[in-house]
Amino acid sequence: MKTIIYSSVSATVPDASTLHEILGVARAANARHGVRGVLLTADRMFMQVLEGEPAPLERLMDNIYRDRRHSCVVPWLVEEAPDHEAMFADWTMAYASVGEQAADLGAALAPIGRSPLQAILAAYPDRAACRILRGFLAANERRLGSAAR
Ligand SMILES: Cc1cc2nc3c(=O)[nH]c(=O)nc-3n(C[C@H](O)[C@H](O)[C@H](O)COP(=O)(O)O)c2cc1C
Repeated sequence: MKTIIYSSVSATVPDASTLHEILGVARAANARHGVRGVLLTADRMFMQVLEGEPAPLERLMDNIYRDRRHSCVVPWLVEEAPDHEAMFADWTMAYASVGEQAADLGAALAPIGRSPLQAILAAYPDRAACRILRGFLAANERRLGSAAR
């Protein structure tokens, strides 16, 4: 099992159709390759947590680095642990938006709840990736809190 957390800067503030396209392709491909995780957006920033077997994850990262819809891809955390428990077992790619455009996405957040993200934070408490993730979560606290399972 490998876990990657990266941030990147979107070419534009991603609108609903861009996100729909990214998530549609991601969910179908991730299901085929046993990749799971969550994609967070805030204005023009993406933050994505990915987990899966090393080979498919590395192939996916090659694609993600080349993808022209974003740039400045920074992998904040890359960890490989053979006995690591999958944290996003139910999610080929969960999604949460932080910011103005999130207003009508409350329903989309509902099934994510807190647990997989909290598990990531607990597993890597001192890493920069988790400080950034905490920022995303704090900004979205109320929405995630009211939507948690
Ligand atoms: C922010 C962002 C996140 C993405 N996440 C995934 C993902 O989780 N899984 C995936 O297959 N593609 C994801 N993609 C799309 C890939 O970059 C790429 O388009 C996809 O793997 C298809 O590549 P191909 O056209 O070379 O087959 C993401 C793209 C962006 C911009």
